[in-house]
Amino acid sequence: MPFTQEQIEEEQTHFANVITTFQQYAPYALNANNKRRKDFHTLPIADRELLTSLGYKDRISAVDHAIFVNAEFLNRVIASPDIFSGGGPDEDEDDPEMKGNDQDDSDDDDPGHESGPAGRGKSHSHSHSHSHGHGAHPHAHGSHDHTHDESPSGGDGSQTQQRKYRPTEHDMDKLRSTLKQLVRDWSMEGKAERDLCYEPIKEALIQHFSDIPQEERRNFRVLVPGAGLGRLAWDVAKLGFACQGNEFSHYMLLASFYMLNRTDAIHKHTIYPYVHSFSNNPNTDALLRPILIPDVLPSSLPEGADFSLVAGDFEEIYGGSDNLDEGDPSVGQWDAVLTCFFIDTAKNIVDYLRVIHRILAPGGVWINLGPLLWHWEGNTTNDPSVELTLDEVKALARKIGFKISNERTIDTTYTNNAQSMLGYVYHAAFWTATKVV
Ligand SMILES: C[S@@+](CC[C@H](N)C(=O)[O-])C[C@H]1O[C@@H](n2cnc3c(N)ncnc32)[C@H](O)[C@@H]1O
Repeated sequence: MPFTQEQIEEEQTHFANVITTFQQYAPYALNANNKRRKDFHTLPIADRELLTSLGYKDRISAVDHAIFVNAEFLNRVIASPDIFSGGGPDEDEDDPEMKGNDQDDSDDDDPGHESGPAGRGKSHSHSHSHSHGHGAHPHAHGSHDHTHDESPSGGDGSQTQQRKYRPTEHDMDKLRSTLKQLVRDWSMEGKAERDLCYEPIKEALIQHFSDIPQEERRNFRVLVPGAGLGRLAWDVAKLGFACQGNEFSHYMLLASFYMLNRTDAIHKHTIYPYVHSFSNNPNTDALLRPILIPDVLPSSLPEGADFSLVAGDFEEIYGGSDNLDEGDPSVGQWDAVLTCFFIDTAKNIVDYLRVIHRILAPGGVWINLGPLLWHWEGNTTNDPSVELTLDEVKALARKIGFKISNERTIDTTYTNNAQSMLGYVYHAAFWTATKVV
C-alpha cells in the first residue's frame, strides 16, 4: 500500500524524534538525578552528615555512573540505525520482501544476519512503518497507569525542522521501558518472566504440531505480532519453525535490531535498567545491580533457520484489503499466530481477531497470553477504543470462527524489577484457539 507524502514525513519526523530521545537520555537522566543532589544540599548539615554516613550521597554518584553506562549502550544502539535508512519512499514498492541495508546476498546462509527487524520486511513496513506515536504500550510504562500522551511522540514536524526536538517525559518513559524490556527478553534475570509467558505459548505450539517431525517444522509459518524485542519469535525459530515477528515501535525495532544483528557475544552489554526510580528499593542492589545482555547468542539459530522481524502496523501489514475478500493473497498464509501481551493494543478488537482468523490456514492455531489493559482506553486523540471483558473477547473469538481450548489463568509480571518492594501481577488469560470455519 503506497504511503502519502504526509505520512512519510510524519514517520521520518517521528523516527528522528526517537533518535533524539536516545541521544538526550544522559542529560535528561542526569538532570533528574542531580535534583536529588541539590535537594541533599538544602538539608541541615547534621542531616547531611547522617545521610552521608548511610551512603546516600555515594549512591547518587553511583547512579550518575550507571546512567553514563546506559547512555553508552543506547548510543551504540543508534550508532548505525541502517534498519530504516534504506531506499526512498517508492524504491521498494514492487519488492515484497527486502533485506536490510547491511545485508547482501552472501549473508543468505547466515541465520544471524537474516534475523534483523528489516531483514525480510515488506517494503512498506521496512522504511516507513507507521507507528501512530504509540511505540510503547502502557504495559511497559514504569508508572503502570493508563494515561498517555497521544501526540506522535510529542513531536511536531514543522517545529522540529526549525529547532532540535526536546524529548518529553513520555518519550523518556518509553526509552526507560526499552531498557527493562531488554531484561525481559535478553537477560538471565528475565528468564523467570519468560518462563511464565513464553514457555506456555511454545509448549502449546509444539503440542499443536506434535505430529510434525522436528525437521519439518520449518514448513510451518508462525507469526508473532507485537513482538517487542523479539525473544519469543527468536525462540520459536530456534524450535525449528519458520517465524516472523512484527513490531511497530521504533524503540523496540532499534533495540531488537541491535541485539539481533550487532551483538556477537553472550553478556556483551551491561545496562542498569532500575536506576531511574529511588522508590521501593529494599537495598542498593535493587537499584544499582547491573544486568548483562544477552543471555544467548542471537546468531545461534540453527543452520537455515527462517526468522524475520517486520516493521510496521499489524493491521496495515497483515490486514489485506478492507473488503475482507477471501481471495486476498494474505488469506490462510500462517499456520500459527502467537499473541503475548498484544491483543489489548487493539483500537477495535474485532479487527484484530478478524485479521488473525483470516490470515490463519484452516485448522491453524492462535495461541494467546495476556491481560486486557486496553491501550486506547481514555485516549485524548479521538481514536476509537473498544474495551471488552475477557468473557466478551472469548465469545467474539467463537463468533469469528475459533474453537477455544486449553484455557487457564497465568499469574505473571511484566518487565518487573524482581527486587522491588512493589510488583504488579497480571492474572493473564491463556488459551489455544483453532480456526474452525
Ligand atoms: C505489551 S508489548 C508486548 C511485547 C512482547 N509481545 C512481550 O510479551 O514482551 C506490546 C507490543 O506490541 C506493539 N504493538 C502495539 N500495537 C501494534 C500494532 N498495531 N502493530 C505492531 N505492533 C504493535 C508495541 O509496540 C509493543 O511492543
